Formats: sequence, C-alpha cells, structure tokens
Amino acid sequence: MAKINENFLKLQAGYLFPEITRRVRKYQQNNKSTRIISLGIGDVTQPLAPAVVDAMKIALDDMTKENTFRGYGPEQGYDFLIKEIIENDFEPRGVKLDKSEVFVSDGAKCDIANIQEIFSTDNVIAVTDPVYPVYVDTNVMAGRAGNVKQNGQYENILYMPCTAENNFLPQLPDADVDIIYLCFPNNPTGTVASKQTLKKWVEFAKRKKAVIFFDAAYEAFISEPEIPHSIYEIPDAKNVAVEFRSYSKTAGFTGIRCAYAVIPKQLKAYTKDGKTVDVNHLWNRRHSTKFNGVSYISQRGAQAVYSSEGKKQILGIINLYMSNARLIRNKLSELGYRVHGGTNAPYVWVKTPDDTDSWDFFDLLLKKANVICTPGAGFGPSGQGYFRLSAFAKPKNVKEAIQRIAELQI
Ligand code: MLT
Repeated sequence: MAKINENFLKLQAGYLFPEITRRVRKYQQNNKSTRIISLGIGDVTQPLAPAVVDAMKIALDDMTKENTFRGYGPEQGYDFLIKEIIENDFEPRGVKLDKSEVFVSDGAKCDIANIQEIFSTDNVIAVTDPVYPVYVDTNVMAGRAGNVKQNGQYENILYMPCTAENNFLPQLPDADVDIIYLCFPNNPTGTVASKQTLKKWVEFAKRKKAVIFFDAAYEAFISEPEIPHSIYEIPDAKNVAVEFRSYSKTAGFTGIRCAYAVIPKQLKAYTKDGKTVDVNHLWNRRHSTKFNGVSYISQRGAQAVYSSEGKKQILGIINLYMSNARLIRNKLSELGYRVHGGTNAPYVWVKTPDDTDSWDFFDLLLKKANVICTPGAGFGPSGQGYFRLSAFAKPKNVKEAIQRIAELQI
C-alpha cells in the first residue's frame, strides 16, 4: 500500500496564483469577448534584452558544433557566470565571495522551496504575514506545521504581522525560532529594509543560532541609494544567512529560468547534540544529487546581463516597469486609495476601499473593471483588506487598467 505524505493534506485549497487563474478562466468562459488586463501575478512582459538574445544565439550555435557542444554542465553553474555574479552583484557592495559559495539554479522559488529540506523538521520557522506563500507551503509539506487555524495560519509556525502600523516591517520575535524567512524588497508589500533593520535581524539570528533565508529576488528594483541590496552588506551576515537571487524579474527570465543562491562557507547549523555542520557542504551534496544544472544557453544569457550593453538595456526595462509602478501609485493615491510600496519594488500594496474583503474586491475588480489584482488575503491574514498590483504589465495596459479602476468611482 502506497502511503502518501499526509502533510500535503494540510495544505489549503490551491496555491494562490493557480486559484486566481481558475477564477479568471471561469469568468472569461462566460465573458468571451471581454479583454481582461492582468496586474496580478508578477510575470514580466518585456522581451529579453538584445544583449541577452545575442549571447543565447551564440550559445545555441555552440551547441550545433562538435568542438563547442556542451552536455551536462557543472551542477553548481558554469564558472563564466559565477565570476560575473561575484564581480558585479557583490564586490561593488564590499562583499567578497568564493566561487564555491554561489549555486546557479533554475529559480529562486525552487531554491527557497528546497533549502528547508537540509534542515531538521523540528525547527521552528518564522515568516512575515503577509508572506510569499512558497515559504509556508513548503514547510507544511515537510511537516513543520500543525493544522491550519481558522484565520488561515498554521499551528507551529511563527507569523510576524506586517501592517501599516509597523510600516510593514516585522518585529523581532519574542520566542525562540530557528529559521527566519525575510524578503526585501518585499513581495507583496513592496517594503524595503534599511541596513539598520537588517543588522537587527543578523544580530538576532546570531543570538538564537538561527539561519535567515534572505529572498532578494527584487533587489534590482531598489531606487534609493542607501538601501542595501544584499544581506551580506551587513557585518557577520555570512555567518547566519543564505541569500536568493533571480534573473526572472531583473532580466525577464521567468520563461528562460536562471537564478542563484549564495551559501557562505562560514554558515553553520547544528546536529541535535550541538555539533556544527557546514550548510554549504550539505547544500552542495543535495544540489549535485537532485539537480543537473541550468542549461548552457540560459547561463550564457544570464552572463550577458552583466555586459555593458546588457546592463544598459536591462536598466531601461527596469525603469519602464518602475514607471508603471509610479503611475499606479500616483493615480491610485489621487483616487483616494491608500498605497504602499512601488518605490523600490515592482509591487504596489493597496488598502481596499472601506475595508472590503480582499477576495470580494478581487471579484469586483475582475467583473466590473476586468482587471486582475492579487488579493492581499492570499498572502496571509494580515493581507486581508489589501490588494496587490504588479507593475510588470505593458505600460499601455497599466494606463488602461488604472483608467478602468478610476471609472469604477469607488
Ligand atoms: C508573484 O506574483 O508573487 C510572483 O510572480 C510569484 C513568483 O515569483 O513565483
């Protein structure tokens, strides 16, 4: 008799974004001619930068010739990409890394979902509320959560509310925690953390011998110069933090797939009897057992992100998305909505009018304005009464969506 992992039965209905797609499909089936605009899932809409395309074409050509053809690459990623990552993403910020500390992968979502696997199931995890659902669901699957409570939160997970009152920044927990998930710039609220804030977290993690999983997938969207892009800009962070980065949103790779995780050599975790274990070594073991590397073509594309042409072109695309974010922020503010985020992040976090339930507002926006948003409650109970708008749509669609929202007159 094949028994299933019953932890999966504790998961709530569906993953947030497929649930949104299901509702939209149902509506579209009965309204076939309606043109729906999505400001929902954060999926990019601009084509790849020409420098990336050229590099991928050359790489494809390499694959056609006997002397340049590549089979399996190194599971951890090609040196040509890792070198660029270290020299461009970290060294200018004063962070030195060894190439063995960088693991190229097919997505930050996968990395952040998988990393918990090398940690004991009796670790207590702390997450923000609202939260990117992957952090919670993967821990539920692994058995670190109890049953779901009436408010949608799981037993045995520590939730750190992020509300307008605390500027959407989590407070240090009053309890013992072992693993802390932080995401800055934040998905969904668009909040950023100052060096001061991250320093507090690094010191807390050191005191608790905890590990921070730092999701920096949106760092390229930071516009304010004093905001840190990497947790390693904080002294000692290498002793307590893993960092996740992605080319998905930065360089339009949601369909290409390439990302990386940084696991410093000095990061330690512990056995039950208190012996230290090298996390980098365990991740390397896991990565090379379960993963065969990102395609050569994708990695050549990612390498081109760091060329001088690539940098210029990608900055142009990021600026375009951020001008969408500005438009969403400004217009919704003019309409009387309370808006947050959207300055250092491609997401705008908006209070629903009159505290309307998030999913009710989602339905209203879909049916009356034919605009898709992401209901805040889908990210956790503190997201109730909010909705998230993504700035990744085409500018003309953003303009039209905002115009349609204005016409609702609510
Ligand atoms: C989002 O909309 O939150 C993201 O697109 C989800 C993801 O990156 O997996």
